[in-house]
Amino acid sequence: MSHQRNSYGKYKTEFNNSITNPIDFWGKEAKHLDWFKQPDEVLSKDDNGFFRWFKGGLINTCYLALDYHVENGRANQVAMFFDSPVTQTKKQYTYRQMRDEVSRIAGGLKNLGVKKGDTVVIYMPMIPEATMTMLACARLGAIHSVVFGGFAPHELALRIDDAKPKVIVTASSGIEIDRIIAYKPMVDQAIEKSIHKPDSVVLFNRKLGALVTRNARDVDFCEMLKNAETVDCTPVESTDPLYVLYTSGTTGKPKGVLRDNGGYAVALNFSMRSIYNIKPGDTFWAASDIGWVVGHSFIVYGPLIYGASTVLFEGKPIKTPDASTFWRVIEEYKVSSMFTAPTAIRAIRKEDSEGKFMSQKDLSSLNYLFLAGERCDVATLKWCEKMLNVPVIDHWWQTESGWPMLANMVGIENLPVKPGSVSKPVCGYDLQILRADGTLAETDEEGLVVVKLPLPPGCLPTLWNDNERFKKGYLTKFPGYYFSGDGGFKDADGYIYITGRVDDIINVAGHRLSTTEMEEVVSAHKQVAECAVIGVADELKGQVPLALIVLNSIARPIHEIAQEVVQMVRSEIGPVASLKTVHVVKRLPKTRSGKIMRKLLRAIADGENFKVPSTIDDPEIINEIKDVFYPSLK
Ligand code: COA
Ligand code: AMP
Repeated sequence: MSHQRNSYGKYKTEFNNSITNPIDFWGKEAKHLDWFKQPDEVLSKDDNGFFRWFKGGLINTCYLALDYHVENGRANQVAMFFDSPVTQTKKQYTYRQMRDEVSRIAGGLKNLGVKKGDTVVIYMPMIPEATMTMLACARLGAIHSVVFGGFAPHELALRIDDAKPKVIVTASSGIEIDRIIAYKPMVDQAIEKSIHKPDSVVLFNRKLGALVTRNARDVDFCEMLKNAETVDCTPVESTDPLYVLYTSGTTGKPKGVLRDNGGYAVALNFSMRSIYNIKPGDTFWAASDIGWVVGHSFIVYGPLIYGASTVLFEGKPIKTPDASTFWRVIEEYKVSSMFTAPTAIRAIRKEDSEGKFMSQKDLSSLNYLFLAGERCDVATLKWCEKMLNVPVIDHWWQTESGWPMLANMVGIENLPVKPGSVSKPVCGYDLQILRADGTLAETDEEGLVVVKLPLPPGCLPTLWNDNERFKKGYLTKFPGYYFSGDGGFKDADGYIYITGRVDDIINVAGHRLSTTEMEEVVSAHKQVAECAVIGVADELKGQVPLALIVLNSIARPIHEIAQEVVQMVRSEIGPVASLKTVHVVKRLPKTRSGKIMRKLLRAIADGENFKVPSTIDDPEIINEIKDVFYPSLK
């Protein structure tokens, strides 16, 4: 059986090799890809002093993902299964069909002036045209920036101003279970708010009845294709950007994580084999969204570069139509490795704790279930293992890395699973746990998760147009190391346990959000004098945000103000922020120097034991806050 322990000691050998001899290790991995020109150097430093992979190499990521396979025996293999329970649509595209469609979309974008180095923002639901537009950008050497559909116009505007796209590609609507969400009016609002204006907005009309506004700069997606010729792949430098993906930082302004072409392709190809343990021709399914890094790496680029078949799923784990939908997809497309977020499994378990739906499907193709995006509680992991009878592998990574950093590399050696741990460092990541003073933490001692530089290929080389923020946010806290922003510890067997973010980032249903950003929105309410937004534990979504507000006057009913605050976050950041609870408090606990004690607030909200900090300005506030969360204890 594939999940038996195998190749004893192989992981250790490979891992050590990747750390002691990265140039040799990654140089060999790069040879698996079809370069237009081989790199001059495997690892080098750029003018900013940042590490870069495969300098001098010429490559095209769309070529690797499509054309290469068409030319090498996979033309008639399915590249992508599209499954949309919300529209009751199923489609499949062979590698040849996908290459043809993508090269025509690239021709259409070219006619709109898009060329190598230009940026294109994609704000689309989970439809084939979205993934094909990403690949079309890659084909032209243009840089795409996909924005998740659950973000509001204000967030989209921030990204437009930072990425400065020549073109925005959108669709008329997304579908949230049974609700049609009109995208085009949101794009119009975003462009109205942004300083930068794109030359064109390309609209794919799904004809589902959503309001479609029209502007002079709009171009219909199908019309664009009518006049378009197919175009070939533009060779780009390995170090040229493939995409910018914005993620929440600890300020109100999202960070544009930059991804290069060559290093990313090498890393993804390596991960399909060594982590996800699939073979070319197998079906791999990442049940995520193209708006997140998981979608970029493991719906689009990873499986296709590797010659696998990918699944694009427009639905949710439940309610589309029920908790059997994931198992149906596995059965129908013979998925061999699947990736999802623990929240999705918790949602399914809630509806089908006995696993009746699973038992009705043929899941014999499935070898592994991978979980990431947020902490996985042991109960969820164990339930899944019992029900599916395959290894369930919790692994850890970030938008910044672009591919797993900690995982059981089952393609190399299937290590025993330790529930609660995300296993061991992936090849290439010299991961350490440091104390705040930069010294190494002891075994089992909680500290900060860092990676000794250089990061392996595929990880962010810098932030889009912001080298200083890259240095300040990741490199200066511990010189010589990349700081992940997560806390964790290592046990005596070298297994790592992640304890959570040490900054103001929270993970809501596997979606990364910034509480600082929410605080900026909440504090803009006229009657809010002060506020704190914290992430509190939630049974389904792992964490949800909660706002504590201090009012400057109580001229109106409190529930009205709370409702307005909820609405403000929804319309400024988007429904994905999921801020539903607002508590009014008399004051917030602060240090003597005036800093709000968010950690203390979180501990009170989650009912954890805590020590009253000696730095608190007035300990009585703790009782006031407790009364808000647990009024019945009063
Ligand atoms: N476009 C527009 N709105 C969106 C959206 C999108 N692409 N994605 C989410 N939203 C909206 C939802 O409709 C919901 O709005 P509501 O407050 O009006 O109901 C809100 O954003 C929160 O969405 P979500 O987090 O998906 O919660 P949910 O209650 O609709 O569904 C789950 C609950 C558990 C089914 C869902 O969270 C889920 O599938 N989680 C798995 C997450 C996942 O796979 N993450 C990938 C990261 S690796
Ligand atoms: P994102 O950049 O959206 O992928 O979010 C990355 C963050 O999600 C990490 O920094 C972690 O805080 C969290 N995360 C991702 N995977 C895991 C995991 N397996 N266990 C615990 N936290 C995780």
